[in-house]
Amino acid sequence: MFSPSSRGRLTDRDLDRFPGGTLFDRLARAVCHAGCLPRKELYEAWEVARRVRRLFRGGRVVDLGGGHGLLAQALLILDDTSPCALVVDKALPPSAAKLHEVLVQAWPRLEGRVEFVETGIDAVEIRGTDLLVSSHACGRLTDVVLDRAIAARARVAVLPCCHHLRAGDTGGLAGWVDRAAAIDIMRAVRLTRCGYRIWTHAIPAAITPKNRLLIGEPEPRPR
Ligand SMILES: C[S@@+](CC[C@H](N)C(=O)[O-])C[C@H]1O[C@@H](n2cnc3c(N)ncnc32)[C@H](O)[C@@H]1O
Repeated sequence: MFSPSSRGRLTDRDLDRFPGGTLFDRLARAVCHAGCLPRKELYEAWEVARRVRRLFRGGRVVDLGGGHGLLAQALLILDDTSPCALVVDKALPPSAAKLHEVLVQAWPRLEGRVEFVETGIDAVEIRGTDLLVSSHACGRLTDVVLDRAIAARARVAVLPCCHHLRAGDTGGLAGWVDRAAAIDIMRAVRLTRCGYRIWTHAIPAAITPKNRLLIGEPEPRPR
């Protein structure tokens, strides 16, 4: 059984699982060549990227807590309207460079367009034209991503994980839904209160149980 939620690394031994000509299979084969990415990260990044790209085009992609930066690069591969991507992580995995190298081999148009910065997410300048994404920014970090998006009035997509069940804002909803869901609902409410239009999606639970995807775009300000 080939589970998409496995943390096992994809390697060239997995190539025959992705024999097709689809963009996903081509991406998966490149990831196998890199030999460093946990399987679930491929599926998570892909499922998030394709949902985000159905809504948003253009703007610099900023992947906060980006790890290997696959989400940022999948967004550029899916849609070439974004000029560049910035991957921000306080501890970039050494293998991020290897993954980028194999993706550039497969998609030469990525060359020179993806910057990796090893720093905290508070340290990067965010512009209103950016597209902020963050997959599994643990606990409060998701709220910091939302803070940064709201402050800049930038588009944002987060896939939260590791909820702080005691400290997180459940908005009094924990009698109806589990506390993690309540925290995410309050994040969605917060975006709408801050003048955002929101979309709520779920990526397949077979990939990750932390599968709630919250997407927001600032509503135009009234004149
Ligand atoms: C669970 S991993 C997710 C990585 C990647 N986004 C993914 O989906 O595979 C969380 C990442 O956030 C990074 N991180 C944690 N706190 C951070 C901070 N304050 N600023 C930047 N990155 C941070 C960690 O180093 C880690 O790579």
